[in-house]
Amino acid sequence: MLVTGAAGFIGSNFVHYLVANTDVIVTVLDKFTYAGNAASLAGLPENRVTVVRGDICDAELVDQLVRANDVVVHYAAESHNDNSLHDPRPFLDTNIIGTYTLLEAVRRYEKRLHHISTDEVYGDLELDDPNRFTEHTPYNPSSPYSSTKAGSDLLVRAWVRSFDLQATISNCSNNYGPRQHVEKFIPRQITNILTGERPKLYGEGLNVRDWIHADDHSSAVLRIIEAGRLGETYLIGADGEKNNKDVLELILTSMGQPADAYDHVVDRPGHDLRYAIDSTKLREELGWQPAFPDFERGLTATIDWYRENEAWWRPQKAETEAKYREQGQ
Ligand code: NAD
Ligand code: TYD
Repeated sequence: MLVTGAAGFIGSNFVHYLVANTDVIVTVLDKFTYAGNAASLAGLPENRVTVVRGDICDAELVDQLVRANDVVVHYAAESHNDNSLHDPRPFLDTNIIGTYTLLEAVRRYEKRLHHISTDEVYGDLELDDPNRFTEHTPYNPSSPYSSTKAGSDLLVRAWVRSFDLQATISNCSNNYGPRQHVEKFIPRQITNILTGERPKLYGEGLNVRDWIHADDHSSAVLRIIEAGRLGETYLIGADGEKNNKDVLELILTSMGQPADAYDHVVDRPGHDLRYAIDSTKLREELGWQPAFPDFERGLTATIDWYRENEAWWRPQKAETEAKYREQGQ
């Protein structure tokens, strides 16, 4: 299996999951941008995992690696909304051109592709909307990040329809767990508390995200690769809706701090209000269920991971906070 972007958060958790639960032999293709971390793949058996440093926009390299593998699982992306608002160009290059480059190689060698995407392609919901996103919700992305992910999904769909590409797509809600970059909401707040900085909440913090443990994302992706119908899209979610203020207060109290020991900072422009996934299709058609339905327990384990793995996150922390400070966040 060729796994792109597996030095990042979700891809590395997927490779750890594969090594622990399958016999699959893995090749990782990762550019090691600021978001890629060699330490996330440390300790994996060399006879199971080979790491190639390279760009998914490099057609020659992609051709060679796709030809040598049976299945391609495509995680590589520029993934952070805030970055996309300040410098959208890398999002277009990696998320659009990079996906196109992979698609052409997968088509040439008639391989199986699973494309990883996000629920953010659907835009956002009102707080009191009784509906959740389904596979039939129209695309309506808000940010440069989500619009380039939407573009990449549409490319995959077009290659399926026009060229009979053997592909599936999944759109997952917000992930949490070990090895997530400290720029993202949950690790940023945990590591702020660990370094004596006050956590930072955008606006009033009423925005809702639908949290899922990264291992549940991995088990769902594996299930889709094993049994998903070609050409289909599956939404992945674990019924984990919570607003940001509640999540932050839970982090603070779990770490022995007063629940109000945080700062309100300037809100994100165009900030999506609410994401919520209806994963009925995945559950009923493929029999998938989350193994970590208890968010509080998963969050406590994640806090413990950051406490115990300071060497993993410390090198990125100062630079990340300096960037946020410049933006008033
Ligand atoms: P991440 O930023 O932690 O990791 C991305 C990885 O891709 C990094 O290792 C980076 O070095 C690599 N990469 C970037 N550009 C590359 C290029 N041109 N060539 C090769 N490698 C490149 O991201 P993540 O949070 O792990 O997200 C992984 C995937 O999951 C993305 O496609 C994202 O859209 C999707 N997703 C993320 C979430 C979430 O909550 N984080 C939710 C749903 C879907
Ligand atoms: P984030 O982890 O960036 O994921 P996404 O934008 O893909 O949902 O942010 C999750 C939520 O947390 C989002 O509503 C923005 C908010 N947020 C904060 O309130 N403070 C922060 O410091 C960050 C990084 C995010």
